[in-house]
Amino acid sequence: MADDRLIVALDVPNVVAGLAMAGRLGDAVSFYKVGLGMLTGGGFALANELKAAHGKRVFLDLKLFDIGATIEAAVRGIAQYDLDFLTVHGDPQVVRAAAVGKGGSGLKILAVTVLTSLDRADLDANLIKAGEIAQITLERAARALEAGADGVIASPQEAAMIRALPQARGKLIVTPGVRPAGAALGDQKRIATPAQAIADGADHIVVGRPIWQADDPAAAARAVVAELGSGT
Ligand code: C5P
Repeated sequence: MADDRLIVALDVPNVVAGLAMAGRLGDAVSFYKVGLGMLTGGGFALANELKAAHGKRVFLDLKLFDIGATIEAAVRGIAQYDLDFLTVHGDPQVVRAAAVGKGGSGLKILAVTVLTSLDRADLDANLIKAGEIAQITLERAARALEAGADGVIASPQEAAMIRALPQARGKLIVTPGVRPAGAALGDQKRIATPAQAIADGADHIVVGRPIWQADDPAAAARAVVAELGSGT
């Protein structure tokens, strides 16, 4: 049985490979993430195909950032397609524009706080104020939620502290960087197991390579769902 709490990152090169993988995963997966790596490989067409023809939920991970008018127009366009989640950068003016753009559609706007690939030296280079990354992440999450985000993207390490924010009540927390027990880490460093991420307050976990690179992707997806259990 598929479980909506598992979102599989379809980080394959193009729509053909994406549809083939979705076919292999079949009923084991009900929610997919399509991102920028597939933009030139038909990513948007794949997102629509997964939604319309296969009845899957779709998370479009575009991490949009631009002037308000452009964000509003871009999100208004995307909101016509009945997709489920869309990421924008968590700057309040970007989030506010995205919230206007989505209008009355069912699209959920998820804010990116601080990219987990950045360290303090990168933040210094970007002229981001002094302070611990964890604190800056928490403040950006609070401000994005106040600005109208439906939720935030957070590493498993950040999920619990964000969940404790008053601004996060009723909002979504979606965590990548999740590794089933015993899975290869790849380039992920700060990881948690699926069950731990959910216990720490995540509503959805994003898992990519441990599923789509597996010899039997459907079995790998079912194993993650089994790790989530049914009682959380
Ligand atoms: O293959 P893996 O499970 O590491 O894939 C995780 C997905 O989540 C990838 O699409 C990656 O780009 C995305 N992601 C992440 N860490 C973040 C933000 C997004 O791994 N901090």
